[in-house]
Amino acid sequence: MNSQIAGSVLRQIGPHLFSTAAISRAAATGGTVHSLLAGFAGMRVAPATWVASVRFAGTVPETVDGGEAAEKSGSAADGSTGGKKEKAVVSYWGMAPAKVVKEDGTQWKWSCFKPWDSYTSNQSIDLRKHHVPITWGEKLAFWTVKSLRLPTDIFFQRRYGCRVMMLETVAAVPGMVAGMVLHLRSLRRFEHSGGWIKALLEEAENERMHLMTFMEVTQPRWYERALVFAVQGVFFNAYFLAYILSPKLAHRMVGYLEEEAIHSYTEFLKDIDAGKIENVPAPAIAIDYWRLPPNAMLRDVVMVVRADEAHHRDVNHFASDIHFQGHELRELPAPVGYH
Ligand SMILES: [Fe+2]
Ligand SMILES: [Fe+2]
Repeated sequence: MNSQIAGSVLRQIGPHLFSTAAISRAAATGGTVHSLLAGFAGMRVAPATWVASVRFAGTVPETVDGGEAAEKSGSAADGSTGGKKEKAVVSYWGMAPAKVVKEDGTQWKWSCFKPWDSYTSNQSIDLRKHHVPITWGEKLAFWTVKSLRLPTDIFFQRRYGCRVMMLETVAAVPGMVAGMVLHLRSLRRFEHSGGWIKALLEEAENERMHLMTFMEVTQPRWYERALVFAVQGVFFNAYFLAYILSPKLAHRMVGYLEEEAIHSYTEFLKDIDAGKIENVPAPAIAIDYWRLPPNAMLRDVVMVVRADEAHHRDVNHFASDIHFQGHELRELPAPVGYH
């Protein structure tokens, strides 16, 4: 009697608790559901059990050749692992990726960024600007960065492809740490950030795209990967602490790091022009991210990345100046979208 009542109740509330549209989508998308149900052939399955089977089965990852619910994995979507089977997740959560097309009508092939994230680099930026260190703290920041160049020079010599790729793994950390700290502060203090969270996270993402680009040109060796692992652990925590103690000096140090990055990319360009580094065609991801012409070369990529570094230099020195003059970042509008 009790089971009859329970069954009746479940039949009534089932459609409300478990969307029938979702169930039919999940059931239609994969053989997983069918194969699970096949095991119940000849059995009378209680509605709740059946619904639960569909719900849980619907979240089981499955490898298929295609289909609307198919979501390419990051590497496959980047076109860097051609020939691999596409991964798909059978799910009724309505997260099928939107079809995005480029301005010329062809399909957008990147999942890691969209057309609205791409931009044309402003290369008219002054590459030689430099903040002369005045206070003892600024001098410390300046000479800390300068002293880091020596071991970097010894380790990488003039292997600039590898060198810049490794440096980008570090360069993408400060923006993320600073953005995170400001994000948490905004929550704690119930106050706006002036756009600085977005600006700093944009910088981190931009640096990460530099890494994604140079990964297409060179690949790290095992000991270089190990070095990145160790350096990230130390640098993340050190920069986090520095940003808590003195955001003024933390931004100033990043400003100097960016000045060094400009120097490294200038040396990179010299080696390309001297024929010491082959000027290979630009990676496809770079062509779409910086809206470069289809026949762009590595040299063009290095030029736009160097311009990015100059923009990061300006943002960080500006942020430091704001603190230096006794203000908080949120008091001045952040240079969001500054490329
Ligand atoms: Fe960078
Ligand atoms: Fe940078």
